Amino acid sequence: MRSIMVLNAKGGSGKSTIATNLASYYAWEQEMNVALADFDPQGSSIAWLKARDEKWPHIHGIAAWQEPLRPPKDTDIIIMDTPARVKGKELTTLVRRVETIIVPVLPSPIDIRAAADFMKELLTTGKVSRKETKVAVIANRVRENTLIYHTLKAFLKTLKIPFVTTLRDTQNYIRAEERGVGIFEMAPSQVWQDLEQWEPLIRWLRSKRSQP
Ligand SMILES: Nc1ncnc2c1ncn2[C@@H]1O[C@H](COP(=O)(O)OP(=O)(O)OP(=O)(O)O)[C@@H](O)[C@H]1O
Ligand SMILES: [Mg+2]
Repeated sequence: MRSIMVLNAKGGSGKSTIATNLASYYAWEQEMNVALADFDPQGSSIAWLKARDEKWPHIHGIAAWQEPLRPPKDTDIIIMDTPARVKGKELTTLVRRVETIIVPVLPSPIDIRAAADFMKELLTTGKVSRKETKVAVIANRVRENTLIYHTLKAFLKTLKIPFVTTLRDTQNYIRAEERGVGIFEMAPSQVWQDLEQWEPLIRWLRSKRSQP
């Protein structure tokens, strides 16, 4: 069973958005049996699943902040959404559970500063420091042609891990969140730009570079 975690200690960086869209990608596009484990007591991913209509492929929800992480036996892939402010022991424990980590970062001075601190800790944590867990960063909620996006890009390129894609700031993610779907399950005429932006991330996730 493959495992992918979306992680960043900074609140509001897009962890739940990326986690739910990834779950939708594997369930809808890849027809896999997907489990979505939410480690955040806020329960954003679980709320997303509740909003999801039965006509869409089923995704098994686990409220991992309060129940054991026991996915069904036939699960092909587990996607994990995590809370903000994780550090120290809690971070080590979370990292121990996964092969692949995606860190979304927003283009703002506060987010970039917080990400610099977080990456320093993450890259020296347990399995990540031993390269048994692979990490990539993505820029999220970006408006092209802004100065701060250039600053973010420059920062992400300085990290010694892959900077795999940039996702734009669009209402499509808000609409998807409301309906319990991912952009993969929306009309291509509406989301084609976003699908293009997800492609490099999907490619990285398919490649050996994202797996220990
Ligand atoms: N690319 C995007 N374009 C537009 N809105 C976005 C984008 N990514 C995230 N958002 C919105 O930003 C808000 C925060 O995103 P999200 O809840 O995914 O972050 P989070 O890291 O899970 O936050 P928390 O730390 O509170 O769990 C949400 O309202 C979400 O819909
Ligand atoms: Mg969240």
